[in-house]
Amino acid sequence: MKLEICPTAVAAAERAAHRIAGCLGEAIAVRGRGTVAFSGGHTPADMLPVLAVAPLNWAAVDIFQVDERIVGVDDERRNLRALRAAFGNPGPAAARIHGMPVDDGPHERAAEDYEESLNTIAGTPATLDVVHLGLGVDGHTASLFPGDAALKATADVAVSGPYDGLERMTLTIDVLNRARMRVWLVTGAAKRAIVRRLVDDDPALVAHRIRRDHSILVLDRDAAPGTA
Ligand code: 6PG
Repeated sequence: MKLEICPTAVAAAERAAHRIAGCLGEAIAVRGRGTVAFSGGHTPADMLPVLAVAPLNWAAVDIFQVDERIVGVDDERRNLRALRAAFGNPGPAAARIHGMPVDDGPHERAAEDYEESLNTIAGTPATLDVVHLGLGVDGHTASLFPGDAALKATADVAVSGPYDGLERMTLTIDVLNRARMRVWLVTGAAKRAIVRRLVDDDPALVAHRIRRDHSILVLDRDAAPGTA
């Protein structure tokens, strides 16, 4: 896992955007198209708009979600909102966005449907070019939480939680590890302790199950372990 420490959260977001754009540009050059999946939460807010103006052939890009909260489409907690704001039509980067079908029930069936859409675009088993990952203070990533049954799922998409009072739909460990590249973006002093444990490869963390090769951990100085 390659660490890239930036002076500020905004600089880290810009660096992560640059890394993801590089992965997509290479994929388009080699295979004619690129696939990416984004995690939700607050951290990507500074990254997505920067990535959306990267000089890429966005018509050749398919955007997926790493995870989504199972709430109404207008609920501000929906991760899809930030993706649509950055990449939706009309906009600088009118890419194809494949939102997780959390409005469709039953959710287990909807998860199977999403996996089928992944397979249609990214092959079987689904192999994404790059996935963006965040890190929770408890060491979770995606919506894969300590002790959750989704950690044992054999499918690439599962329903998880409740966590923070919400059920979620999430990509699972295998599809995240199958991706050609992983770009983590973690910022803020509150994450420093858990980043230390991730860097030290603490086996107790859910994030420990994510492969470390072909992975970049982009941090700001506040989240970087060993910085005053
Ligand atoms: C989600 C995310 C989640 C996130 C981490 C960090 O839907 O909540 O996918 O896994 O990446 O919890 O969240 P913050 O960026 O808000 O700290």
